[in-house]
Amino acid sequence: MSTPNTPGRESGARAQTKKVTVPTLLKMKRRGERIAMLTAYDATFARILDDGGIDILLVGDSLGMVVQGHENTLPVTLDEIIYHTRAVKRGTLRAQVVADMPFMSYQLSPHDALTSAGRLVKEGGAEAVKLEGGATVAPHVGLITAAGIPVMGHIGLTPQSVHQMGGYKVQGKSDAAAKRLLDDARAIEDAGAYALVLEGIPGSLAAEITALLSIPTIGIGAGAECDGQVLVIYDMLGMNPDFKPKFVKHFDNLYERIITATKGYIREVRTSEFPAPEHTFDRLKVVREKKTQGRTG
Ligand code: KIV
Repeated sequence: MSTPNTPGRESGARAQTKKVTVPTLLKMKRRGERIAMLTAYDATFARILDDGGIDILLVGDSLGMVVQGHENTLPVTLDEIIYHTRAVKRGTLRAQVVADMPFMSYQLSPHDALTSAGRLVKEGGAEAVKLEGGATVAPHVGLITAAGIPVMGHIGLTPQSVHQMGGYKVQGKSDAAAKRLLDDARAIEDAGAYALVLEGIPGSLAAEITALLSIPTIGIGAGAECDGQVLVIYDMLGMNPDFKPKFVKHFDNLYERIITATKGYIREVRTSEFPAPEHTFDRLKVVREKKTQGRTG
């Protein structure tokens, strides 16, 4: 069986590629190079996306919805994010691995936030953490970054506040709301964050925030002017045909392709076409192999 990081892979050409770090991402912003980020929740997907050249892998609390089947991200625990972060780390060589701070793992106090961020780094192997909120969580961002842990902010449509927002609604539409988001963005940068996710806000506001900040902005439903983009991997691959909001583009239709593969498998099992002789172990061959091993070993 192959494992996500086989020795062959580590010593191959991809292993020579330089790891994406905070300075790499800041440099990309300065040079105007767009940053590509996707979510990942397990080692196999992490390995594929890393081999594909993704810059950042986010172990998002979206796993509560797309992996666990909850209706929102609120039930996700810190232990669950740690578990998935460990798996993603095992599959990743180049991309920066960012762990999301789940609901109630940081809101209570900056001290709690630092304790949780420390666990994500120490136990999960995260290289950075992400938390939702504006000026009110600036002290939390400050304390975590002071401990040497890079923090990615997240403002605009913040899914952990779904009940307060009254649903997943575009934020920052009025002048007053836009001004609040500009202030929030500045507060998060001033507190020491190295990047900022802008979710569900008008493209013109995202462009304004991006121009204002010296740290990269990563957009999701925030238009093309951000320094980078992020999507949930299952959305990007078209794995749920029922979920196609305006901001999502399906770069494949894996739902259909997996259904087709599943039907093919069922058909061949029913007709005994699978497993074919080439998938079946042959007793005599095993005996011959054993004899050969005996001679050489
Ligand atoms: O949890 C998540 O996947 C996220 C991204 C969509 C930004 O926060």
